[in-house]
Formats: sequence, structure tokens, C-alpha cells
Amino acid sequence: MKCLLLDILSGKPQREIPVWLMRQAGRYMPEYRELKSQHGFLGLCRNPQLATEITMQPIKRFRPDAAIIFADIMLPASCLGFDIEFAPGPVVAKAVREPAQIADLPDTFDCKEVAYVFEAISQVREELQAHTSERGRIGLFGFAAAPWTMACYLIAQEPYKHFAGTSVFAAKHPLAFADFLAKIRKLTLTYCLEQLRAGADVIQLFDSWSGVLSAHEYERIAFAETQKLIAELAAVAPVILYVNGSSHLLPLLSQTNATGFSLDWRIELSRAAELVPDRVLQGNLDPALLFQKPEALDESIATMLNQAPQGRYIANLGHGVLQQTPMEQVQRFISAIQAVQ
Ligand code: CP3
Repeated sequence: MKCLLLDILSGKPQREIPVWLMRQAGRYMPEYRELKSQHGFLGLCRNPQLATEITMQPIKRFRPDAAIIFADIMLPASCLGFDIEFAPGPVVAKAVREPAQIADLPDTFDCKEVAYVFEAISQVREELQAHTSERGRIGLFGFAAAPWTMACYLIAQEPYKHFAGTSVFAAKHPLAFADFLAKIRKLTLTYCLEQLRAGADVIQLFDSWSGVLSAHEYERIAFAETQKLIAELAAVAPVILYVNGSSHLLPLLSQTNATGFSLDWRIELSRAAELVPDRVLQGNLDPALLFQKPEALDESIATMLNQAPQGRYIANLGHGVLQQTPMEQVQRFISAIQAVQ
């Protein structure tokens, strides 16, 4: 059956532009806040029925062309033995401070600790069937962090800001850091393969903090594991790499096998299309622009679409939907893209 998301990612020409939003389920929706107040964020993630219900909330309300499983990039860190809480961002007990902690981490993974994610994916896949429309089947994203971004949260940061603690650890302990990224990459590969087996169509890798490194440093300390992970995943499914504040990395990242790149708003889509002429691009409206008056939002959407590469484009925001975003504007964004013929 036709699936706009998969068709674009496999290079099939089509008139329609698939659209979905990062963080399309979340605090801007009253039905999410209601369930979260009863169960807490981790309680939602760890209960496949509830995670399914939340994944489906924006699908029922806005009818985007893709769903993303409700989870968090930090959940699989439990397979490495880390305890994570959310307040609301991830807080890691016993974060890495010494190389010896890395040597002690496991090197093989079965991801049983996060079986609830795979179960939720199977349930969502079932439920999505009922939402097939004339635009086709709704695609389902699984996701994970790229190794660098996972390391940013697992390495202790104080007294630094903006993840400089991770760069400092890598500078002081290059071999341990390389070992750490390799272990994270192995974990992430198993985790993503299990998501695909459970029914995810596409994997999105979030390298949300890649932008804190220069291109030279990214290439020197992080790129090899990103590249290996993408190569292993892209052999079995489409892979989209989200990079944030990272247009300086695009020439390097285009050397990976990623099927597509998801971009933030700091780079124009037309410029990114020149830098990466042969992949799908996804993005990239500044989520703050959903707070504009409706007509101004329409103009911003038109500007974005004018810059988007034809036939290899998925519409989205440049980052997740912000708290307090008016729901009518989310609907306006999705409907505007779906009206494009
Ligand atoms: O996109 C989706 O709808 C799927 C669910 C999803 C969540 N987190 C749920 C979530 C996805 C894809 C993520 C990815 C994620 N998590 C990233 C990569 C994307 C990015 O933002 O760059 C990162 C860096 C994280 C780590 C994380 N988790 C942070 C920084 C936070 C706090 C952010 C905030 O909004 O306050 C979280 C918590 C989190 N993950 C929430 C949700 C819905 C908010 C939890 C709440 O309701 O309190």
C-alpha cells in the first residue's frame, strides 16, 4: 500500500509532500497533560498501552503522515546500567566521570530492559491501520540518539555548560571515550533493529548536540561511530539523521549512507539542498513561528516550501513542538502542507 513517507525515502516521485512534527505528542496537548499528571513521563514510556495511546493522540487530532513512537532517546541507557530520571530533561545517576566506569560497561546487548518500547511499536503499528486515508498508510518512526548525543547526557557536565564536559572528557581520555562511543553504537544498533523488527518503518537518529563540535573535532572523535551505525541500519531500513545547529557538519555527514537529513531552521533548505544534492531533506520551520498570527504562519510555510527540494522533501519543524503552542496552528501547518498538489 502507498505510504508517502516510505515512497519519498525510496525515491519514488510523487506530488504530495509528507508531513509530521517532532514532539508531535507532548505538553501542548491537554490529553497528554492529563495522562502525564496521572502516570509521570517514565510511567507513560514504560507502559506500552499508554505509550501507544499517546503516540496516537496527535494522529487522531491532526492526521499527519507519520507517527513517531512515544519514548525518549535516553531510555536505552538502562541497558548500559544507567538510571535515568526526567526533570523534565534527563538526569543520570552515577554519570561517567572516570575511564574505569566505561571499562566496566557491558559490550553486548539484548535490550530486554526496554522491551516495552518494542511492544508499544507493535501496538501502534496495529492501531495505525485504522487511520489509512487517500494519502495512504501512516508511516511509523522508531528513533534513537546518535552516539555523540547519548554520550553528552551520560558524561557528567559540572562545572561546564553546553556539554563542554563531554568534550573535556574526550580530550582527557581519548581511548576511553572512543570505547564509550563504540559501546553506545553497539547498543543503539541492537535497539534500532528491534524497533524495526517490531514494526517501525524508518529510524530517525537524533544527533541533537553535534553542533557543539567543530567539523574537524566531530570528524576526529564522533564521526566514525555515527557513520558505522548509519551504514548498519541503512542496510535494512531508511535512516534520517537529525542534526541541530550543524550546517557546518553537512558536507561531512553527507559521506554517511543516511537516506535523509532533518535540519533546524538556522540553515536555508535551498542551501542544504546544494550541500546535500542526493538525499531527502526534512524540516525546518522554527517552532516559535507556530505562535504567529495565522496569515503570518502561512507566509512562513510558503517561504519554507519555496526553498524545499522537489521530490526529496518531508515537511517538519526544525525542532520539537514547544509547550503552549496553539493546537490550531499545528493543524494549520499540517493542513497547509497536505493541501499542496
Ligand atoms: O517526537 C516525539 O513526539 C516522540 C517522543 C520523543 C521524546 N523525546 C519525548 C519527550 C522524542 C523523539 C524525544 C527525543 C529526545 N529526547 C531528544 C532528541 C530531540 C531533541 O529535542 O533534540 C532529546 C535531546 C531528548 C532528551 C530530553 N527528553 C530532553 C532534553 C527533555 C526535556 C525537554 C523538554 O521538553 O522539557 C526530555 C523529556 C521529554 N521527552 C518530554 C517528552 C514528551 C517532556 C516530558 C514531560 O512531559 O515533562
